[in-house]
Amino acid sequence: MSDHDTTAPAAKKLFIKTYGCQMNVYDSQRMAEAMGSEGYVLTEDQSEADMVLLNTCHIREKAAEKLYSDLGRLKPLKAARPDLKIGVAGCVAQAEGEEIVRRMPVVDLVVGPQTYHRLPAMARGEAPNILTDFPEEDKFDHLPERRATRRAPAAFLTVQEGCDKFCAFCVVPYTRGAEVSRPVERIMREARDLVARGVREITLLGQNVNGWHGLGEDGREWGFGRLIRALGELDGLDRIRYTTSHPNDMADDLIEAHRDVPQLMPYLHLPVQSGSDRILKAMNRKHTAEQYLRLIDRIRAARPDILLTSDFIVGFPGETDQDHQDTLRLIEEVGFGTAFSFKYSPRPGTPAYDRPEVDGAVADARLQELQALLTRQQKATQEAMVGRTVGVLLEKQGRQPGQMIGKSDYLHSVFVDTTEAEIGDLLQVQIVESASNSLHGKIVSSPANA
Ligand code: 5AD
Ligand code: SF4
Repeated sequence: MSDHDTTAPAAKKLFIKTYGCQMNVYDSQRMAEAMGSEGYVLTEDQSEADMVLLNTCHIREKAAEKLYSDLGRLKPLKAARPDLKIGVAGCVAQAEGEEIVRRMPVVDLVVGPQTYHRLPAMARGEAPNILTDFPEEDKFDHLPERRATRRAPAAFLTVQEGCDKFCAFCVVPYTRGAEVSRPVERIMREARDLVARGVREITLLGQNVNGWHGLGEDGREWGFGRLIRALGELDGLDRIRYTTSHPNDMADDLIEAHRDVPQLMPYLHLPVQSGSDRILKAMNRKHTAEQYLRLIDRIRAARPDILLTSDFIVGFPGETDQDHQDTLRLIEEVGFGTAFSFKYSPRPGTPAYDRPEVDGAVADARLQELQALLTRQQKATQEAMVGRTVGVLLEKQGRQPGQMIGKSDYLHSVFVDTTEAEIGDLLQVQIVESASNSLHGKIVSSPANA
């Protein structure tokens, strides 16, 4: 255990609730580690916490409003225990800053995503209680190194943050700021450290992850594909994934990495948002539907079995029935393994905010139609797995005794019946059945731990 355990008085308890994307999950872990050095240990029970931290999402209005209803529910707890510290982190903190404290005086601290390294000082009262600037320094340089404890077999690693694409609907360029790539040596060090602690699968994270670039170990400028090749050389790292990508940053070397790097899993989340050129243009996506389709052809030529997923927005301002039909046609043409779809939500400060909205009922109907199609494709993709043998990395116990749950190469959740296998085993599993959101398989190999 770490040395502060012997010197600290009774540990203080920290409860973190994470909303939104995987980067917030990663950031929450890093904040927990930073607060660990201050003597805080994580608790799952909000009522016994000394500090409650809400790591928020601003992407759609519903996500942002959730913060305020959760803060409302915290009022009685704070009234009963005035020394309880309540902190708001993440993208709502960045976007709304002191407005949060004005609206909800129960909040003690507001910390934006680029200032997490100041959180311990804020908690001690040695820094301002609202920090949402974009400092020059990299917050990761100032966050403590991850502590040498054993980790779950699959981990996230942030390699890039921020976005310069400015899609007309999106708050990310404002909440997360300009694109910044972390340097190669820091990424490699963190990856090696994770592997040394039992991690076998790393998902590289970035708002625009495939826009990552940096000065390589050989003194040359590396693109994202080259970084993946370097990670593929790490002994003990069996699986590499990445999310989220922009179609315009799918460089040749990245597509080739899907062909050449066996650890790079056959799964790609590549948001397209719409299948209508008119809407893509209005969204400032800077590519056409046809360009997306041809890109998919090239990716599939490199890795024919790749499972593709995407994001869609319906009811973007100006979207007509014809535009919607174009989107359905693109979905038919690609055939997605699964996808996320959202009704357009106008976000203050974004270019599309003031544009006339599509009628709500029309947008709802379109969303339903699109989701029905995506659900059919998801079902077909899962059913096509039945009979196949795939790699499965076991991540946790199932609800039933003698059952474990893992992720397949294609990121499907797979249930296997076993009393011998352990968390962290990477097994060959034959898929025997497809359920609504998961697969069932039987082990055909002993653990491939060598
Ligand atoms: N309204 C609806 N969906 C949005 N997304 C981003 N901004 C909005 C918005 N204003 C969706 C996009 C993006 C995903 C993370 O969230 O599809 O890819
Ligand atoms: Fe938002 Fe992604 Fe567009 Fe960047 S590329 S503005 S994060 S939707």
